[in-house]
Amino acid sequence: MGAVLAVVSQKGGVGKTTTAVNLAAAFARRGMKTLLIDVDPQGSVRYGSGLARGHETAGFADYLNGDRSLREIILPTALPWLRVILAGSVADASDHVGYAGMVRETNVLQELLYMAEQRCQVVVVDTPPGLGSITKKVLGAAEHVIVPLQCEPLALQTTPQILRMIQDIVSVNERLTLDGILLTMYEPNNPASDRVVDYVRRHLPANIVFDVVIPRSVATADAFAAGQPVVVRSPADAAAQAYVNLATILADRLV
Ligand SMILES: Nc1ncnc2c1ncn2[C@@H]1O[C@H](COP(=O)(O)OP(=O)(O)O)[C@@H](O)[C@H]1O
Ligand SMILES: [Mg+2]
Repeated sequence: MGAVLAVVSQKGGVGKTTTAVNLAAAFARRGMKTLLIDVDPQGSVRYGSGLARGHETAGFADYLNGDRSLREIILPTALPWLRVILAGSVADASDHVGYAGMVRETNVLQELLYMAEQRCQVVVVDTPPGLGSITKKVLGAAEHVIVPLQCEPLALQTTPQILRMIQDIVSVNERLTLDGILLTMYEPNNPASDRVVDYVRRHLPANIVFDVVIPRSVATADAFAAGQPVVVRSPADAAAQAYVNLATILADRLV
């Protein structure tokens, strides 16, 4: 039996989807049977996951409302060990209220995660920003969670909120391990970025902040725009290598 690994953060734009997509690809490249599930109604995984172009974009929302079967929404990718369940048609809708309500009021998501972890070694789940009902459902069924934190000055002010969120996260489910806070979009030549890293390392317990830091890189943004994980498109890139290193650390904890 595998494990569910959720990628969660209070804010949007901090690198959640990039982290979910690249960790999933890095696990798959290690030969781990991996499923990446996007439950964020924004549906960003569809852009960065390396699906064959022109592929079907039905996904979790369409399974949730009964329009598609499970078999129809599990999509193959360019990597043999990686399959993806996209958010689906909700990503094209202007209103996500109905979707959120169905996630909240049914057990479809927990049952899907339970089935997935029976069949895969790792199930990576990309979530919407914040600790809303969709993310809480995911955390209720997850064993592992990673919290990306963008290296930007605002992180200094929001650290207490982040700690509070972590307490809330781990209280959702006693089987849940906080694997760590992941510093993302670090800019090596930017003193403001260094200040954030220093601050976070001084104010948060060492065992909850990963040593691995994800640098900001042009290759990462380009890969996303090209619809591929950077670990696949530019494996020599520093951010790609950081994601591969992170996957190595996590793979040991997952098995
Ligand atoms: N390490 C990185 N280097 C450069 N750009 C990045 C990096 N990580 C994320 N980005 C870019 O930042 C934006 C937000 O990232 P994303 O993963 O979509 O965040 P979230 O899912 O938290 O909203 C995207 O345009 C993405 O391409
Ligand atoms: Mg996202």
